[in-house]
Amino acid sequence: MTEQIENYIKSHIDPEPDNLYRLYRRVNTSLLYSRMCSGHLQGRLLKMLTAMINPMRVLEIGTYAGYSALCIAEGLRSDDARVDTIEIEEEMEDFIREQLNASPVGHRVNLHIGDAMQIIPALNADWDLVYIDANKRVYCDYYNLLIDHLRPNTFIIADNTLWDEKILDTETNNDPQTLGIARFNDLVAADPRVETVIIPLRDGLTLLRKI
Ligand SMILES: C[S@@+](CC[C@H](N)C(=O)[O-])C[C@H]1O[C@@H](n2cnc3c(N)ncnc32)[C@H](O)[C@@H]1O
Repeated sequence: MTEQIENYIKSHIDPEPDNLYRLYRRVNTSLLYSRMCSGHLQGRLLKMLTAMINPMRVLEIGTYAGYSALCIAEGLRSDDARVDTIEIEEEMEDFIREQLNASPVGHRVNLHIGDAMQIIPALNADWDLVYIDANKRVYCDYYNLLIDHLRPNTFIIADNTLWDEKILDTETNNDPQTLGIARFNDLVAADPRVETVIIPLRDGLTLLRKI
């Protein structure tokens, strides 16, 4: 997407809430790997998709700074609905908790620090929406861990599934992250348990519905 069209879109969609604008700026001035943070457009889309799906329990794998968790929390329509978000990096905990405390919807987010592969079985919850946005090498592992336990009509959203278009040539781009994403795309495309759509937004967003 050109910068011009991105700016046009941003000026014709809901504005980014103040707390998220500040969060995004702090990520860019004080954290490493700031590109991992969802921004204005993807954040508003996550909020909209959440409001459309109307889940009671959401699982996010990969919190980073908390931006996407707060967008999902904004989209929750029931006061009792909650987001479980999992982040493996312990040193992110204080930053994330500060952001949750600064947000009017932060109380809807339960932060879990640790490896999602260990925490998911321990939570043993009935999620209606899962957002996969963690280690690209093991997207298939997250998916395989969850898919049989999810009820029909549960939605999964997976981010970065076009991976800068590197997935088009996995012979040249044979690094573990590209191969992990390519394996995931092949797995879900061939899996009769889900319906699959890829939206070419930012780095690619896959939407799955368990049948
Ligand atoms: C792309 S960032 C998440 C961005 C965030 N969802 C957003 O949109 O603002 C990926 C995060 O996943 C975390 N992560 C990687 N492997 C993980 C694992 N096995 N369990 C939990 N978190 C993990 C990384 O430390 C990183 O902070």
